Amino acid sequence: MEQLHFGVDYYPEHWERARWAKDADLMRDMGIQMVRMAEFSWHKLQPREDVFDFGWLDEAIELLGRKGIYTIVGTPTAAPPAWMVHKHPDILPMDREGRVRGFGGRHHDCQSNPTYRSYIRKLVTKMAEHYGQNPYVIGWQPDNELGNSHQELCTCASCRQHFQAWLRRKYQTTEELNRAWGTAFWSQEYNDFAEVTAPRITVTGENPSAMLDWKRFCSDLIVDFTREQVEIIRKYAKNQFITHNYMGFADKVDYYKLGELLDFVSHDQYPGGFYLPKTPHESNHILAATLDVVRSYKNQPFWIIEQQSGITGWEIMGRAPAPGQLSLWAMQSIAHGADAVVFFRWRTCAMGTEQYWHGILPHSGNPGRRYEELQDFIHEVNPLMELLHGSMPQVQVGIVFSFEQEYAFQIQPHHRDLSYTGQVQKYYRALCERNVPADFVPEHGDFSKYKLLLAPLQYIMSPELEQKYLDFVRQGGHLLLTMRTGVKDKTNLCMTERELPGRLSEAAGVEVLDYDCLRDTQVKVRFGEEEFAANIWSDLLRLWPGTEILANYASEFYAGEPCITAHPYGEGICYYVGTEPGEALMDRLLAQICDTAGVRPILPPVADVECTVRQNDRARFLFVLNHAGEPRSYQTPEHYRLLKGQQAGKLQPYETQVLTMEI
Ligand code: GLA
Ligand code: ZN
Repeated sequence: MEQLHFGVDYYPEHWERARWAKDADLMRDMGIQMVRMAEFSWHKLQPREDVFDFGWLDEAIELLGRKGIYTIVGTPTAAPPAWMVHKHPDILPMDREGRVRGFGGRHHDCQSNPTYRSYIRKLVTKMAEHYGQNPYVIGWQPDNELGNSHQELCTCASCRQHFQAWLRRKYQTTEELNRAWGTAFWSQEYNDFAEVTAPRITVTGENPSAMLDWKRFCSDLIVDFTREQVEIIRKYAKNQFITHNYMGFADKVDYYKLGELLDFVSHDQYPGGFYLPKTPHESNHILAATLDVVRSYKNQPFWIIEQQSGITGWEIMGRAPAPGQLSLWAMQSIAHGADAVVFFRWRTCAMGTEQYWHGILPHSGNPGRRYEELQDFIHEVNPLMELLHGSMPQVQVGIVFSFEQEYAFQIQPHHRDLSYTGQVQKYYRALCERNVPADFVPEHGDFSKYKLLLAPLQYIMSPELEQKYLDFVRQGGHLLLTMRTGVKDKTNLCMTERELPGRLSEAAGVEVLDYDCLRDTQVKVRFGEEEFAANIWSDLLRLWPGTEILANYASEFYAGEPCITAHPYGEGICYYVGTEPGEALMDRLLAQICDTAGVRPILPPVADVECTVRQNDRARFLFVLNHAGEPRSYQTPEHYRLLKGQQAGKLQPYETQVLTMEI
């Protein structure tokens, strides 16, 4: 079968049967090659406990298939039906205040509930048996946005029991549990695993070690929930793929672990989401980072399975994408490694929660400007997708990104304005605006392919990870470490054996003797001849012989003390940054560090213009994307020829140019 590159999310069950053929014709004329269907239609597929009805979905799959449009089937387990909840109210989730969340939204379920699991096994088995060999069905999406809609996850009696079993497996004895959780504090010792609760709100304070295990457990539960469905589907659907729609940096499930179950990762990309705090222009580096982290979860090209196709909104709405912006955003996904783009959704829904989350077609179903724009876009870009398929960026910089660190900082953020993911994105921004491409890399990943590794806030540390960082630098890598490195062990207890950053002092050539949390203030930092602002934190450092000072504090009682350092170790260099550099300082610092590491920008930076590269063994593709609503120019590189665009170097508002060279 040829590769498929463009699709839409389609909900035929929301519309009259008589309309389906027209939808299929419009899709085909537009260049749509696939749809995703059924991920919320449990009641339509199983209207009563003992009645299954796949007839309507069979018909839709067949009708579309005959017009050359393939189907990805979603399992509808994000929306358990009312009859089931009515009969088994214990399926409903319970929040941290012990309140049961009611029916009426979606994901009103407890993912450990055995009754719910048995309903899922039955339905998914029937679906997999039924569609596993259907020639029009190409793949599966179990559930929808796993980890979404659950807030703090379920604390019901079933989840409590599962948590206890998880702890028993991990610690074997309560002595070990008590040690790992530091329960001597405030008399929290347990005599029996049966005494451990799923964490409810407390009168005051929480045990950080217990909370970290709880978050790990919740992530594992979601992976286990998914595994059950994946195993059933794989049994019957030998030649169909399994993917899942991720949400970028969302934290509820460890996406690296979830990815091990999938053939490839997919993601939902809404650059103009009404919930985003900033305008698309200001948040562009976050959108770019989101796409890069999604590619990094399996370190391979990914799919966008929901790409914005109009105004977003539930009760309140975001801005209308300007002409050209929907295409630009789809190109941005492709530029970062998407091999296919599925637009959400086909037609704006007339009922339910998402009446204002706009599709390609408006409520009326009559094609308008969004249809025309995306039709032109697909016809132009589809041939390009053939060339790009499977290609990956050429990357020399890795940014370490880990869910455990995120969890630990959620539990103890230190400072009102500090978040782990936010910090990681601040380092990414400076690279992105400099046109230096980056991967995200898990702590268990391969560091050796990077010249430069940025590892902000490596707070939870293990002896193995310490050794990995030491080896990386010794063998010639350039490593950046920051404040709050090596503070905690894997159980979230503070390290006490030596000064921070523990054994990593050997590489960094510094020891942290004291620190200051910059509540309600910034600190001044002198770097070269200039003075900059820095935020959140100041580490007060003792330097080892041979450690070079790159920047000093220039205010507070530690004015004049070192703030940012560089230390040669083995064949490499280890940088230590004792604060959060403000944007200007971050730009200066990373420019210098990249230069020293021999990492060059793809092109000289231009405001609002983003550059990426994808490459395979035959050719290199350079993407230049203008996020501005006005023309921009850029310096065209030598040896490239224009593959998409009017005039190389001159960008129209929201235009993307693609240039290529053989290698
Ligand atoms: C998510 C979900 C979709 C839909 C859209 C719009 O990405 O996966 O089902 O709800 O958001 O809200
Ligand atoms: Zn539960």
